[in-house]
Amino acid sequence: MQQTSTSSTGMSGPQPGTFRVEDAREMMISGLRNAHGLEQQAIEMLERNSERLEHYPELQARIAQHLKESRQQQALVAQALEDLGESPSTLKDTVMGLVQNVQMMTHAAASDEVLKNSFAGYAFEHFEIASYTALMVMARAAGEARVEQVAQQILAQEEEMASWLEQHLPEIVSQHLVLMQSGEQKR
Ligand SMILES: [Fe+2]
Repeated sequence: MQQTSTSSTGMSGPQPGTFRVEDAREMMISGLRNAHGLEQQAIEMLERNSERLEHYPELQARIAQHLKESRQQQALVAQALEDLGESPSTLKDTVMGLVQNVQMMTHAAASDEVLKNSFAGYAFEHFEIASYTALMVMARAAGEARVEQVAQQILAQEEEMASWLEQHLPEIVSQHLVLMQSGEQKR
């Protein structure tokens, strides 16, 4: 019979004694490196997406907020790596498949760019949610409470951004239609 241990956050992890702590630590460090690269992609994407949003002030403000958060997140991840004795200068910013696809989507400067960027941003936030959820499990298994706490803190911000986008997408689409009718937004 298999048992799962559940923490106060409701997340399960592997049972002690069923895995090697060194493996968890190695995965956690590689997870932190990937997170650093992911935040770099996020920062670049949010910087690009915040342009030409004068007709979407709420979206613009939320993107500006998340850009600021993403810079702080990247700094937290870099600090966590440094605390583990991993030099930030050796960081390789891994570009993952989905991230590349998301970037290709956002490169297209079409009239419905704001919609495509919103879809891509939504997908990206969920990629980050998956990454930080995994990082939390790895950190817990490695016995690195500080890294677990950092991952949890960042995860909460990604979840907030994802749910904001989900809630506001209908308004963004409506606004896009209104702007098309008024000629403010080209077809
Ligand atoms: Fe992020």
